[in-house]
Amino acid sequence: MTEAMSSTTQLRGKRRADFVMVANRLAVERVFEGDGSPAWRTSPGGLVTALVPIMQAKDGAWVGWHGAPDEELEPFDHDGIDMVPVRLSQQEVTDYYEGMSNATFWPLYHDSVAFPEYHREWWDAYEVVNRRFAEAAAEAAEEGGTVWVQDYQLQLVPKLLRELRPDLRIGFFLHIPFPPAELFQQLPWRRAVLEGLAGADLVGFQVPGAASNFLRLVKRLVGWDTQRQEFIRPDGTRGRAAAYPISIAFDTFDALARRPEVVARARSIREELDADVVFLGVDRLDYTKGIRQRVQAFGELFRDGELDPARAVFVQVATPSRVRVDEYRRLRDDIDQMIGHINGTLGGLARTPIKYLHQGFPHDEVAALYAAADVMVVTPLRDGMNLVAKEYVACRTRGDGALVLSEFAGAAQELKQAWQVNPYDINGMKRTIVEAYRAPRREQVRRMRALRRQVAAHDIDRWAETFLDDLRRQR
Ligand code: F6P
Repeated sequence: MTEAMSSTTQLRGKRRADFVMVANRLAVERVFEGDGSPAWRTSPGGLVTALVPIMQAKDGAWVGWHGAPDEELEPFDHDGIDMVPVRLSQQEVTDYYEGMSNATFWPLYHDSVAFPEYHREWWDAYEVVNRRFAEAAAEAAEEGGTVWVQDYQLQLVPKLLRELRPDLRIGFFLHIPFPPAELFQQLPWRRAVLEGLAGADLVGFQVPGAASNFLRLVKRLVGWDTQRQEFIRPDGTRGRAAAYPISIAFDTFDALARRPEVVARARSIREELDADVVFLGVDRLDYTKGIRQRVQAFGELFRDGELDPARAVFVQVATPSRVRVDEYRRLRDDIDQMIGHINGTLGGLARTPIKYLHQGFPHDEVAALYAAADVMVVTPLRDGMNLVAKEYVACRTRGDGALVLSEFAGAAQELKQAWQVNPYDINGMKRTIVEAYRAPRREQVRRMRALRRQVAAHDIDRWAETFLDDLRRQR
C-alpha cells in the first residue's frame, strides 16, 4: 500500500554500517507533486512493509533504488533509517527492472503463469545493475559486517559482493517462489544465477520445497556437492539453503486495528457499503494474484443468485503496479472490462456488486477495511508468501472473520485453518467462498483464533532473528 510520508528525511554524510540491507527499492520512493516539487512516499509491496520494522530496530544502512530514473541522490536519513540510494538510468529501468526482473524472472518463478521473455540486452543490464548494487553494498559495510541481500532483482549480488569483500557475512532472501528444475532450466543464464545466489553464506526461501529446488539445481547444473541443506564450493567453503517463512509485525497491525479512529472508520465503511456481508480482496494489480479468477467467481455467484447484490458486496482493492510492463496493462484492461460487465448487468441504480478501487491506500485505511470485511479472499495462482493474508488475521482483533486462501500461496503452509482453495477450480472456489461466509460464527472464531496464535507467534522479528542467528552460525 502507498502512504504519504512525513518530512523527516535529511541528507546524511557517508558512513559505514555494521548491518546493511540491500533491496531493489529503498523503503521510500521519490515522487513529484502536481507542482513538480519532490516528495517521498512509502514504496509499494510486502517486502518494504516487512523490512522497515527490522531496520528501525537496528542501526543499519539500506541500499536501494529510490524509484526515480536518472536521478543521483546523496545518502539520507528517513525516519531513523540510513538510506543509500542507487542510481538507475531510464534505459536500466526498462531493461533491468521492467524487463529482466519483471518480464523474465517474475513470470518464470511464478509457475510461468505468464510467458517469460528472454532478451540478451535485458540480461546485460541485469549484470551491470547487480554489480552497481554490490559495489554500493561493499562501500556501505563496515569491516566484518553483515549484508542481507533481498529478492530476485539482485540474485548476482551475493557472488559479486563476496569477491569484492570476502570479510563480510552475506545472507540472501528470496521473497518469491523458486521454481522446480523443469521450469528453471529454460533460463539461458541459469548457471550464472545459481552461482550468484550461492555466493551467500545463507540463502533463504519462503518454503522448504524452494530450498530443495535450489540445492538440487546447484548439484545438477553447477556440479557442486551438496550435503543435506549445505552446498560446497570448489574452494571447500560451505553455504546453506533453508526455508524462513516471512511474516508481519503482528503487534503493530493488531494495535493499529484497535485505534479508536480505525475502529470508527471500519464502522463508517460498513455503513457506506450498506451490506449484510462484505467480501474483500487487497492486492497489487498483478497477474499472479488470481484476480481474474476471483472476479469471475464473484460474477457467477452474483449472477446465479448465490449472493444477492442487495445484501452482499465484494470490495477489490488493486494497487497499480509495474504499469509500463505489457502483461500488467493487459491485466488492468481485462479487470476493468470484467468488473464493468458484472456491475453493468447485475447492478442497480443504488448498488454495484463489485466495488473496485484501483489505487493505493495508507495502512490505517487498509486496516479499517480488514476490520470491516467478513470474508477476506486471497487467491493467488502462485505466491511466495502473501502478507495480506497475515495482515487480515492480525487486524481481526475480535477473533472473528473468515480467510479464504489459495493453496498456492506460501502462507497456506502455515495458515492451515484458513478455508483453502485451488484458484484454477472456479466451481470449487465458489463453493468454498459461500461455505466460509455461511459457516457458524463459532466455527469462524475457532479458526481465526488459531490463525491469530500462529501469526502472533511467528512474526517478523522472529523471522529476522532466526535468519540472522543461522547466518552467524554458518559463518
Ligand atoms: O517480493 C515481491 C516484490 O517484487 C518486491 O521485491 C517488491 O518490492 C514488491 O514486490 C513490489 O514490486 P515493485 O518493486 O516491482 O513495485
